[in-house]
Amino acid sequence: MTLMYRKTYALIDCDILENNVKDITSKYDYKYYFGVVKANAYGHGDYIINNLIKGGVNYLAASSLEECLRLRKRNAEIPILCLEPIRQEFLDICSINNITITIPDMDYFKEMDLSLKLTVHIKIDNGMNRLGFKDKNEVKEVYEQLLNSEGINLEGIYTHFGTSGMWDKHFDNGLLTFKELTSLIDLTKIPIVHLGRSLTLVQHPKPDFVNGIRLGIIMFGFDQKMSEPKGLRLIKRNHYLKKHGISPITYTNDLELKTAFSLHSEIMCIKDVKAGQYVGYGAGYTATQDIKIGIMPIGFADGLIKQNQGLNVIINNKEYPIIGELGMDMTTVLIDENVKLHDEVIIYDDIKKRTKELGISAYQLFTLISTRVPRVYKEKNKLTEVNY
Ligand SMILES: Cc1ncc(COP(=O)(O)O)c(C=O)c1O
Repeated sequence: MTLMYRKTYALIDCDILENNVKDITSKYDYKYYFGVVKANAYGHGDYIINNLIKGGVNYLAASSLEECLRLRKRNAEIPILCLEPIRQEFLDICSINNITITIPDMDYFKEMDLSLKLTVHIKIDNGMNRLGFKDKNEVKEVYEQLLNSEGINLEGIYTHFGTSGMWDKHFDNGLLTFKELTSLIDLTKIPIVHLGRSLTLVQHPKPDFVNGIRLGIIMFGFDQKMSEPKGLRLIKRNHYLKKHGISPITYTNDLELKTAFSLHSEIMCIKDVKAGQYVGYGAGYTATQDIKIGIMPIGFADGLIKQNQGLNVIINNKEYPIIGELGMDMTTVLIDENVKLHDEVIIYDDIKKRTKELGISAYQLFTLISTRVPRVYKEKNKLTEVNY
């Protein structure tokens, strides 16, 4: 199948990703669908961007210039927005490579060379206190100077919400703050206005002045559906919302998304361990009876965190527990006589279940998997291995 010597890899189903995006873009009406593919496309790897584009993504966004340039190598045409500010001395690289930059505040703007041929988006801080302008007069000044500048193309304006506003007023306040901070400019003169991310898309209506949405975790199979409170819980909730003046959210949606990521390894050695003998570092596991164990070439350097100890892996459709201390490169699984040398091990393929078991978010689970682990892409029936 692949060139890999060590049989540990993440399998990514590109067709699923493409269908996810098709489903989203057909059910929510925006003009610009940004595929947020920072951190190597949420751990799935940049290779997938062309599947996202086939699904309907028409703009990409990443965190750093390094990430954006890697994306540019994979696709020469698609516009790419860098979400974090890029140091001024590298802006010519953005110009050459058609990378759209974010202007995060006045300090940054004052240092900019306005004769550069650049496409820019202004970032507004609606209360999160990370990146963005917080003063409407500054927004006006920047907007006017950009519109009158020779080289700069003021293409977009955006903000990012710190919470989904399910239990707090921050989302509502943030939206009002955005409107207030942009009240001295003509938003219709800026081609792309994008405020939200996955949760915003499914939980809040699209304001009429908005035409772009940034899709992140939702593309990777997280539809963000929640069960709507019922009975007494619903009454209590409505009372809470009314009391605090919080606008209601949409709990559920028609999306039919799937996750596309699974982590695989193999049984590279099998050992018999007698009752009373220990297994692994720190003698972290002692056999209480005669057992059979399998050693897998995967460890914490691959992103398999300690909390996986005790959780199950799947071999030949049967579950077996991980035992002992996880090593940097090797992990032990308690097996039986049905397991043979070189049998494939699915470390996990049910991402939602695994994140619950580990007590971490899917964002973390995906991005934990290090670049030491090759990504194998399944498209139709073709497999492609990529090492990052
Ligand atoms: C500015 C910005 N927009 C959009 C996203 C996508 O978020 P999500 O994955 O929740 O859709 C992120 C991710 O953190 C982000 O930083």
